[in-house]
Amino acid sequence: MLDVNHIYCGDSRILLKEIEPDSIALSFWSPPYFLGKDYEQGISYEQWQSMLKEVITLHYNILRPGGFMVINIADILAFQDESMPRIQADNPANKKCSVTREMVLEAKRLHPDYNRDQLAEHLHCSEQTVDRRLNGNNIRGGRHSVGTHVKLVGGNLEQYAYDAGLFLYDKRIWVKDPAWANSKWTTSTLKAVSETEDLYVFWKPGSYTVNRNRLSPAEWKEWGLRQVWNIPSVRANDIHQAMFPIELAYRVIKLYTDEDDIVLDPFMGSGTTALAAIEANRQYLGIELMEQYAELACKRVKEMNCAPKLAFG
Ligand SMILES: C[S@@+](CC[C@H](N)C(=O)[O-])C[C@H]1O[C@@H](n2cnc3c(N)ncnc32)[C@H](O)[C@@H]1O
Repeated sequence: MLDVNHIYCGDSRILLKEIEPDSIALSFWSPPYFLGKDYEQGISYEQWQSMLKEVITLHYNILRPGGFMVINIADILAFQDESMPRIQADNPANKKCSVTREMVLEAKRLHPDYNRDQLAEHLHCSEQTVDRRLNGNNIRGGRHSVGTHVKLVGGNLEQYAYDAGLFLYDKRIWVKDPAWANSKWTTSTLKAVSETEDLYVFWKPGSYTVNRNRLSPAEWKEWGLRQVWNIPSVRANDIHQAMFPIELAYRVIKLYTDEDDIVLDPFMGSGTTALAAIEANRQYLGIELMEQYAELACKRVKEMNCAPKLAFG
């Protein structure tokens, strides 16, 4: 069985089977979004869906009765489907931003401590341009190529969970900061820029405690009772490509668990959930496929003066 307060390097589809049954109070995670990030290479849409289904199904056994699984994910706003017509129009006023990848790299070399926001200000362009030049990301949530239509993901997650015996209990919306604030009008679609993500809250049937003292009256008022959470996204994604902010994890952990409860993240990435769990005096358990990220997560936990052990599964 996996030990708590450890981060394991391995595939969740295998390692989740080694977690003590009925032990997890909360599993909070953000899986790959199928947006073409490095850690998603070589995976088809069908394989991605079946991975999500398998991970969700495995949660039934390990969540304690009355426990929660909270998934942070976004719809795919620019799903790449070569068989679909390309919904794109002529834009006579289209002016391409003149900042090149080389210019961004040079600015990074001269100012290694600058985050994306500062680089954008320095280069007089938007943060999205910086991100796109460095990572090839499209501001509508996908790679910069033929993104034809929107793919909703929540309905599939709900079905996978329902089939596994878990019920959709609540949904919250994370509104990110206006990273497009300096954007020039260079778009050639009529689509919105991606600025929200979803939190799907699933519940394993069983009694649970509604402990009003988990949050202060001010916290209840400001976000505990609110469906929309305004939290700035992580600007500098130089250590991991898709970190969520620690405040997001902290809110979820405070809301759905009590002190000493075990909080799992089967897509641990850079270790944000573990850091938030430690901050909130909860125990953590993490699983991450890529060794470099599992090591990074351990390092960040160690920096919080704990003694995590990296284990391989
Ligand atoms: C969206 S990121 C999570 C980022 C994390 N929330 C953070 O703040 O750093 C998804 C992570 O899941 C990892 N991953 C992908 N497939 C996995 C699998 N089958 N088992 C475990 N981890 C996986 C990826 O390597 C990536 O680090």
